[in-house]
Amino acid sequence: MTKLFKNIKELIQVRPAGIEKVSGAEMKTLPTLKNAWLLVKDGRIADFGEMDNCPDIKVEEEIDCTGKMMLPSWVDSHTHLVYAGNREQEFVDRINGLTYEEIANRGGGIVNSAKKLQETSEEELYQQTEQRLKEIMQLGTGAVEIKSGYGLTTEAELKMLRVIKKLKENYPITIKSSFLGLHALPPEFKNDREAYVDKVVNEMLPKVAEENLADYVDIFCEKGYFTIEDTHKILEAGQKHGLRGKIHVNQFNAIGGIQAGIEHNALSVDHLEVMREEDIQALKNAETMPVALPSCSLFLSIPYAPVRKMIEADLPVALATDYNPGSTPSGNMNLVISLACIKMKMTPEEAINAATINAAYAIELSETHGSITKGKVANLLLTKEIPSYGFLPYSFGSNHIEKVFLAGKALS
Ligand code: NIG
Ligand code: FE
Repeated sequence: MTKLFKNIKELIQVRPAGIEKVSGAEMKTLPTLKNAWLLVKDGRIADFGEMDNCPDIKVEEEIDCTGKMMLPSWVDSHTHLVYAGNREQEFVDRINGLTYEEIANRGGGIVNSAKKLQETSEEELYQQTEQRLKEIMQLGTGAVEIKSGYGLTTEAELKMLRVIKKLKENYPITIKSSFLGLHALPPEFKNDREAYVDKVVNEMLPKVAEENLADYVDIFCEKGYFTIEDTHKILEAGQKHGLRGKIHVNQFNAIGGIQAGIEHNALSVDHLEVMREEDIQALKNAETMPVALPSCSLFLSIPYAPVRKMIEADLPVALATDYNPGSTPSGNMNLVISLACIKMKMTPEEAINAATINAAYAIELSETHGSITKGKVANLLLTKEIPSYGFLPYSFGSNHIEKVFLAGKALS
């Protein structure tokens, strides 16, 4: 299959091979080619250049892109896409004055979702999740990480991960999965956290690894959820099974989760709404990607991750949605990029780098995704006619994507 895109107004995020991520001041630069062409062959980016040198070759399809821009598709490195039902009632409770914490303390929150999920069949769960997956693909996401964590029993956690596995097989979007058994304490373990941690580490994780159901391990390291000690345990156990950590830290409190993650060479530390100077310093020169989730801050009315400080400290930053029923019922990366600019003061260049190449790093896909690079998977966004790429975050809430191509094939 060969496809030639011609007269692309601007081809965005054009990089040579070998760039894994961009950090600090480098994030301000977004390399582009104006008036460009791009050739897709067998699902990969075969070549690209300026229209002056457009190859005169026979292709199966030629697409005129006059006035339109092309970008690599978004990478969403943190979602909880598999869940049953919704938590609309808690949303209303919060409007009426309850906090996220108060709702969780009275049996709502994650355990509420777990109860619903345990009662839902695998088939039904697949169908509900599939709708959300289709939705985010249309919104321009070409690679996504999906977590378990609303099961909280061995059976229900495995059910979630099997749903993810089936989606991997059936959809053209690239999917990575994380085992998040330590998401919340199930009510039956209310007075024995250690017994639940033991069950997750010694019973669930070996089964998950045996069935090859996860790429990573995760934990909600937070006051009232799981401790630093638990974090060490799960990251260490994950490492034994070849699964690196991608962990929830510093959402409401800074308790040392970042340092624990770095100690075990976690792939990413996510949330980061509450950051002490020492947390920022700890991330310097680490291989761990800091991931900010601004639509979670919007939905819960909590602080935004201080990404300006992080970038000034020469760190890389990635952006993700956190799509889940409790804290972020939205999988819209376009909105995330707008919020990053509006609320966290990232420039459009920084936000696009954070949602593409750095996000790809956060799920070990930098070699194949996250930039317009020869040989990478042809996961591409073609915009409508827009004046500049800065218009994407500026004109927030509108859909500026005309067509999405995954492995070179247009989504219908
Ligand atoms: O990333 N913080 C932990 N987990 C999810 C929210 C879970 C929920 O409320 O259902 C998050 O925000
Ligand atoms: Fe999350």
